[in-house]
Amino acid sequence: MTTLVPTVKLTPEQITFFHENGYLSLPSITTEAELALMREAYDRIFAQQAGRAEGNQFDLAGTDAEDKAAALPQILDPAKYAPELKDTLARTNALALARQLLGDEAEGQFDHAIFKPAWHGAPTPWHQDEAYADPNQVYRYLSVWMPLQAVNEANGCMQFIPGTHRLDVLPHQSIHNDPRIHGLEVAAEVDVSHPAICPLPAGGATLHLNDTLHYTAPNHSDHPRRALIMMFGVPPRTREELGLPPRRFPWQEVRHTAREERARSTQSRSSRR
Ligand code: NI
Repeated sequence: MTTLVPTVKLTPEQITFFHENGYLSLPSITTEAELALMREAYDRIFAQQAGRAEGNQFDLAGTDAEDKAAALPQILDPAKYAPELKDTLARTNALALARQLLGDEAEGQFDHAIFKPAWHGAPTPWHQDEAYADPNQVYRYLSVWMPLQAVNEANGCMQFIPGTHRLDVLPHQSIHNDPRIHGLEVAAEVDVSHPAICPLPAGGATLHLNDTLHYTAPNHSDHPRRALIMMFGVPPRTREELGLPPRRFPWQEVRHTAREERARSTQSRSSRR
């Protein structure tokens, strides 16, 4: 149970900007004290390789081999491993922002954490988040992307192509077209020469819709870049119930990752118990 009360509210201008451009940048959604706690929890679960055995921690941008340092470590559902990430002011604010933008039925759907180690964090290539989702559902969700330290172009702040939230899902492929890699990159001709680059202070946030094209550069700084991503949306509907033809995401059908293998073998071990 949480008794936290939101401390942020969007202006009509910010709401209009978001719906016109598909993204928005905000200077603060949490406090210094909460950020310090979150950084500690965040570093702990990455250092402990929390969730690796069940496929919830893996390398987003590499083949995720056991003997190789991850280029872009990611944890799904980080609050499962660090309960102090669950009932935060940041989440309370993120939900309030999502409801201002998507309506009162918006709910928290999914959280993840993407870590760029100092000096060697890989880029997160241009992609639309919906390329990861179920092709037979119709979605309306947004991601609240919060850095736990200041971010700029040099350590991997968010970059967006304004207006791309109006596109359908473009063709994607696994990064480097290697189906052993979990991460996806757009595989269509898109003009990404004029991105909106969004530097932020620690505890600021960018918000973007499920089809907004986005990217983060490699981390060239000598400090780690920590980002926590909270997703909120209205309940998805199936394409069938909306009278839309079926859709296929072939890049998901050919992908085969070490993470899936670990998830599968953990599940079969626990079902045999
Ligand atoms: Ni993304």
